[in-house]
Amino acid sequence: MTDPQNLFTLLAQAQSLLDEATAHLPSAFAPALDAEAQSILNEAATRLHDNYPYAHPLYAGQMLKPPHPIARAAYSLAMSVNPNNHALDGGRASSAMEIEAVAALARMFQWSQHLGHLTSGGTFANLEALWIAGQLAPGQAIAASDQAHYTHSRISSVLGLPFVTLPSDATGRIDLAALESLLAQGRISTVVATLGTTAIGSVDSLDQILELRKKYLFRIHVDAAYGGYFTLVGNLTPASRRAFDALSYADSIVIDPHKHGLQPYGCGAVLFRDPTVGRFYQHDSPYTYFSSKDLHLGEISLECSRAGASAVALWSTQRLLPYTPGGAFAQGLESGRSAALELHRRIAADASGPGPRFLAPLAPPQLDIVFFAARHPQAAPTPESSSALAQRIFDQAARLDLHLALASLPIRLFPPETFPGHTTGNVTCLRSVMMKPEHLAWIDPIWQRLDQATTQSLEP
Ligand SMILES: Cc1ncc(COP(=O)(O)O)c(C=O)c1O
Repeated sequence: MTDPQNLFTLLAQAQSLLDEATAHLPSAFAPALDAEAQSILNEAATRLHDNYPYAHPLYAGQMLKPPHPIARAAYSLAMSVNPNNHALDGGRASSAMEIEAVAALARMFQWSQHLGHLTSGGTFANLEALWIAGQLAPGQAIAASDQAHYTHSRISSVLGLPFVTLPSDATGRIDLAALESLLAQGRISTVVATLGTTAIGSVDSLDQILELRKKYLFRIHVDAAYGGYFTLVGNLTPASRRAFDALSYADSIVIDPHKHGLQPYGCGAVLFRDPTVGRFYQHDSPYTYFSSKDLHLGEISLECSRAGASAVALWSTQRLLPYTPGGAFAQGLESGRSAALELHRRIAADASGPGPRFLAPLAPPQLDIVFFAARHPQAAPTPESSSALAQRIFDQAARLDLHLALASLPIRLFPPETFPGHTTGNVTCLRSVMMKPEHLAWIDPIWQRLDQATTQSLEP
């Protein structure tokens, strides 16, 4: 967790350097912060107690990861300028930093050319990618798997594009046979492949989806909002590695620096492999774009005002932790993945041992997201009893300061006969997103609390 003293010391030095830019101007009014402001801030701090302790490794629930201290410091620094990256009028330096930061993302995907920009998050980034898909093939359908983020069907509806949901297989990956028969019907313009699905972190077989392009004409959009940075890590399975190695052939990619890129919220990114799609963004603005003939980011983005501070924070974090395979940034992701594999191993050992209390899914984690179901050791599990027990463990673990998540997941993600007589439908599972590098070192305290919470939840 952040050492505030260190953060504020570094920030103060950088702030005085930044203030030199305006030191020659006559002094201007700046609202003072007085005792009332202090008391309001104190009240806000107290209100903020009503949150889970997201930054602590015992928070191992949803996709929530604290920004790196340098991102926090750089964001705060930029806030004293409050640049707006819509146009160069509003953020010259921060626009240049955004262009550099997005180019670093493109290089990570091995793209020698690209068009792209930051967005407010993964939803808007995906909206822009599917909007371009719709511009290129008006009225034709978008297809994504039932494990893809729900945003794709909603976005398609906003864009007035038909949307088709494809089934996923027992590992949560897009069902390739179903995809091929859909493509053969010729209605699909764009397939969304998800590299790192939201619920279980499954990785669609992008390499095999690409193979289908030898037979059918379609566009591939990769939603790597969650998983994109895993392209840097060394401890993927061969199947996932092949999928990530195919990324450079995608037509568009979404990645969220505010998920695994150590950024504060408000930082997604969309990248296009063919820069000429910029023609669809072309518009004139009667208010902006006069200050320079250089590209204004608003000319290649659907959102107008965007936080220049996000670009400054991302740029600074990339300088400290470059996107190098095997480097410190990649090691952080590898560590979270190792933690997930270890938690899964312990769940699977419990599930196949005497007096099992857990049910392990068919496949180990593909990235760093673990899920499992709960059972009473002495009774055959049903989806209903398992779901109720998962809820009790979730609540009890929180009382022991271990924060997990719940997810309703298809029964077919578990080995056949896990729930005797049930092959379809869903079961409420416990889910843990092990996003923090520290999770590996904390695996024993996490396991010990899970074990205790489960024992207590099974008590009559
Ligand atoms: C794979 C995927 N795509 C898109 C999104 C939506 O991103 P955001 O919440 O940043 O809008 C998420 C969010 O969890 C996601 O996991």
